[in-house]
Amino acid sequence: MADASEQLSLLFVASECYPLIKTGGLADVIGALPLALMKAGVNARVLLPGFPAVMKGLKKPVVAAVIPDLFGGPAQIFRGKAATGLDVIVLDAPHLYNISGNPYMDGAKERTDNDIRFAALAFVGSEIARGNLLGWHPDIVHAHDWQAGLVAAYLAAVGGPRPRLVFTIHNLAFQGLFPADRLAKLGLPQAMFQQEGLEYWGQINFLKAGVVYSDRVTTVSPTYAREIQTEAQGMGLHGLLRRRSDVVSGIVNGIDDTVWNPESDSDIPAPYSVRSVKGKAKCKAALQARLGLEVKADAPLFCVVSRLTTQKGIDLILSLIPDIVRQGGQLAVLGSGDEAFEHGFEMAAKDHPGRVATFIGYDEPLAHSLQAGADFILVPSRFEPCGLTQLCGLRYGTVPIVARVGGLADTIIDANEAALDAGVATGIQFAPVSAEAFSFALERAFEIYEDAPAFARVQRAAMKQDVSWTAPAGHYMQLYHGLMAAD
Ligand code: ADP
Ligand code: GLC
Repeated sequence: MADASEQLSLLFVASECYPLIKTGGLADVIGALPLALMKAGVNARVLLPGFPAVMKGLKKPVVAAVIPDLFGGPAQIFRGKAATGLDVIVLDAPHLYNISGNPYMDGAKERTDNDIRFAALAFVGSEIARGNLLGWHPDIVHAHDWQAGLVAAYLAAVGGPRPRLVFTIHNLAFQGLFPADRLAKLGLPQAMFQQEGLEYWGQINFLKAGVVYSDRVTTVSPTYAREIQTEAQGMGLHGLLRRRSDVVSGIVNGIDDTVWNPESDSDIPAPYSVRSVKGKAKCKAALQARLGLEVKADAPLFCVVSRLTTQKGIDLILSLIPDIVRQGGQLAVLGSGDEAFEHGFEMAAKDHPGRVATFIGYDEPLAHSLQAGADFILVPSRFEPCGLTQLCGLRYGTVPIVARVGGLADTIIDANEAALDAGVATGIQFAPVSAEAFSFALERAFEIYEDAPAFARVQRAAMKQDVSWTAPAGHYMQLYHGLMAAD
């Protein structure tokens, strides 16, 4: 009997996709989840905006459709592949996407025409969904974050038959809010501008549209799915999310275990695995030397690979640098973001030569070197829908020290006494998200590090965790099949 999944065809709509274009974890998910679903027999394709990096990275591009006027300019739809083999549909509309640098920001400011830019993406997504443009009828359209929130709104506006709709919230902090008078420009009916629609305190809310008009709403961990239904973490949408709680669920992300594999990682100086972690010591020494840190095998090396923003609890890390240094630790930071945080780490590196190293910028190979060479990774986020760097940390035996929130709570097993005894601890969790609790967590880290057998046990348990996309893809398959079977 044929597996039902063989028939399933699926359109992802998103604004980023690794390796074509990436500003954060969203790109990792969009680059890897469809590949895992393809392995499970799904015909998955990803619709992306044709930013210059996407156009450049697209393999075997073929023009599949032409749109003479898309929100003020001509557009073409290309089909092609990402270097990973992923099937990609690219919306090439130079008047919207031919911008250099960050896709959403112009320096420190949001780009003012982001509404049209991502409305166009969503509109084209909705047309493909209806079988127009490509003559392909996906069973399910899975849209991600506010940039794709309007797919469901455009489909609701025209009515008639449509695929089933899944909307995933990767970060509720970014909702895509725009002035009400832009509605007509976006081609959406005034009737949708109401509390039960996409209106939010007098503005248009793209993410809310995705939540209101989709059949299922998911987020990237079960804990975050609960948190966003509370006033404290719901970012103003908790009431709506609570009303829709019967269709809201959380599925933890995976990571691409071929990209993140310490046994075959070409960005690290010595391969290692859970069977033989010896290479990790070489990676540590090489990293220390490269970053100008004292080359000391027994100094616990903490790392940070992160956007430098308040969400990520970066201020807490900055406040505890003296503690880390005083106890004999080292800190290696890779990130970019808020200027004050960047400056803070640069100053810390000057104040503590040989003990603190800062690299401001975005650097994939260096992220791999840090994950391989460090002993611990710090993720003290105030909220974290899922978080991927702690998963990379697990895979590389770089013990995560995390705030007990969102996906961090769901993916790390705290090294309390019972868990240590049972050999199941994979990291250190702390709560509440405060400097005091974080400082105590760091003290525990120093203690465990000094007890070499205990540290080795945690490291081994961490590396043994399955952080691949296999299990999450299975959960998405269940969701899709449940949705197809629903009335
Ligand atoms: P978020 O999407 O909220 O930024 P995630 O943990 O989900 O957080 O994903 C962040 C992704 O971006 C990870 O793949 C991480 O390795 C990567 N990353 C973050 N900052 C940098 C950086 N400065 N250089 C290289 N990679 C980075
Ligand atoms: C968002 C979240 C992060 C999550 C990522 C991918 O950027 O901040 O927690 O891992 O999306 O889902």
